Amino acid sequence: MIHTRDLQKYYTVGGTTVRALDGVSLDIDDGEYVTVVGTSGSGKSTLMNILGCLDAPTSGSYTLDGKDVSALSDNTLSDIRSNKIGFIFQSFNLIPGLTALENVELPLLYRKVPKRQRSETAMRALESVRLSDRALHRPTELSGGQQQRVAIARAIAANPAIILADEPCGNLDSRSGAEVLDILSGLSRSGKTVVMITHNEDTARKAQRLVRISDGKILQ
Ligand SMILES: Nc1ncnc2c1ncn2[C@@H]1O[C@H](COP(=O)(O)OP(=O)(O)OP(=O)(O)O)[C@@H](O)[C@H]1O
Ligand SMILES: [Mg+2]
Repeated sequence: MIHTRDLQKYYTVGGTTVRALDGVSLDIDDGEYVTVVGTSGSGKSTLMNILGCLDAPTSGSYTLDGKDVSALSDNTLSDIRSNKIGFIFQSFNLIPGLTALENVELPLLYRKVPKRQRSETAMRALESVRLSDRALHRPTELSGGQQQRVAIARAIAANPAIILADEPCGNLDSRSGAEVLDILSGLSRSGKTVVMITHNEDTARKAQRLVRISDGKILQ
């Protein structure tokens, strides 16, 4: 599903160059559940942004589901994102003015799903994270754990093959965090490819496979 060779990502700020990724080669099979673990600044989010087609590498190749995405236009990349990838972020990234249901409908809107089908599908996604009774709440009217579950419902609503989660439990208490990890394990069992980033070793061990990153390089 994911095949990268020698990914490099450099940032130059004020004359200093940071090698955020320094030769990352990684293969992830369809249906695998992988955690990427590393300390702060090791390059985890940089890697996730590239895997998620949110950002392009400075050099190196990236093949996603058989397609070379290293050299595609922004429009094509955004199509690939909305068709293949669901994102979950540490800070939830819900839209404050929209209800839970409307937030979950967004990826379906991007895929031009008709209104009625959109709300039915979004409602089913909310049910799958046990939040159908909060469908009309806005993000400020939900707990952190509930907001993250809405974000998960949004990530899965359009049925993407891949779920990318960057520190999904980082802002949650241990109980809500455990719930989120259970949901991710369930998604993995249902056949999704799940890549989760964390700096927490205990969280990292929940996955089938652990990739350790340090200074932009894969150690293990
Ligand atoms: N847009 C940017 N411009 C310049 N440097 C950046 C940029 N984004 C990241 N970096 C640098 O690249 C390195 C890797 O950052 P990255 O965000 O990938 O780390 P991380 O592993 O996700 O850390 P954390 O656990 O704190 O989220 C850091 O040294 C950071 O300062
Ligand atoms: Mg990060």
